[in-house]
Amino acid sequence: SAAEKGGFRSFMDKEIHDQPHAVADTLLGRTDDKGRLVLDEIHVDEAVLRQVDKIIVVACGTAAYAGQVAKYAIEHWCRIPVEVELAHEFRYRDPIVDRRTLVVAVSQSGETMDTLMAVRHAREQGATVLAIVNTHGSTIPRESDAVLYTHAGPEVAVASTKAFLAQITAAYLLGLYLAQLRGTKFPDEIAEVLTELRAIPAKIQTVLDGADRVRQIAHWMADTSSVLFLGRHVGYPVAMEGALKLKELAYIHAEGFAAGELKHGPIALIEPGQPVFVVVPSPRGRDSLHSKVISNIQEIRARGARTLVIAEEGDEAVTPFADETFYVPQTPVLLAPLVSVVPLQLFAMELATAKGLDVDQPRNLAKSVTVE
Ligand code: G6P
Repeated sequence: SAAEKGGFRSFMDKEIHDQPHAVADTLLGRTDDKGRLVLDEIHVDEAVLRQVDKIIVVACGTAAYAGQVAKYAIEHWCRIPVEVELAHEFRYRDPIVDRRTLVVAVSQSGETMDTLMAVRHAREQGATVLAIVNTHGSTIPRESDAVLYTHAGPEVAVASTKAFLAQITAAYLLGLYLAQLRGTKFPDEIAEVLTELRAIPAKIQTVLDGADRVRQIAHWMADTSSVLFLGRHVGYPVAMEGALKLKELAYIHAEGFAAGELKHGPIALIEPGQPVFVVVPSPRGRDSLHSKVISNIQEIRARGARTLVIAEEGDEAVTPFADETFYVPQTPVLLAPLVSVVPLQLFAMELATAKGLDVDQPRNLAKSVTVE
């Protein structure tokens, strides 16, 4: 009903606008007064967590992209190898899992059968399974060794938005917690990341306040038949999530690529007028990734692509090659997905709306898929 949508046009619209709360609530109450992480709810022996020598994230759809984002952060903070695998592929490939493996199952519903089967298989092999789940009382947490709940609140729209941001937030808390436990980061470094995480909700709000421009551009593009998304580092899973949202909501052929892969194939797809979203890394980051992505934009622009660029506020270097630039607030490199995915979610929703589609109930999809 209209009341349940809280004055928004759809549940999706409401849930996208709920995202500052989804992140803030997922952070809430998980630190002590000294700024140390306290995740008492993870009822796993600390000795077991100290001995973990491999993490495997299993999930499907958007939750798997949250896992792909988290891989960059957890490996950087904890120096533990992290694999991210679609749950249905993990389960049936005889995966190498033992007592020192931590399997992290990420699921909004907690009922996805593919993910549940992966959880069962991992536990049978002796792994410790930790669930990152949004729905209390669901099956996956019940069958796992421990659960770290995301506090996104109920998500009604079939395509996931606020749960995605909450999953990244929770996975980051897990990574920081392991770093704290294993001493791979100094306490003040961990406290600094937590402070930056707490600043994220206001930054998401800034992006939401600029939603009108995204709407306008999505409406101009209502007859588009294909959109490409490029990103690098944590921007790569963001690009894939942007493409997934567009497929799910607007039924448009969309693909996300690693920007570095462009020259190895996808650049052949570029013809005049092809819209390409590019998620640009911060110019303040190391490893000159920023200039490499700027070169990618130049290369596709030279071949006639219409470039829609997500960049950090103050990044003037992108504007000469961008047909449209969506600026997002500055964040540390690893936290950027929490803001840069928001314009992509808005774009998919607005384009679907412009096409007259039901954004809450896309055709052929179900909110939770309880069959394999
Ligand atoms: C379905 C939904 C997706 C979701 C995926 C995983 O396919 O349509 O939006 O990302 O399942 O769902 P889960 O509840 O496990 O996060």
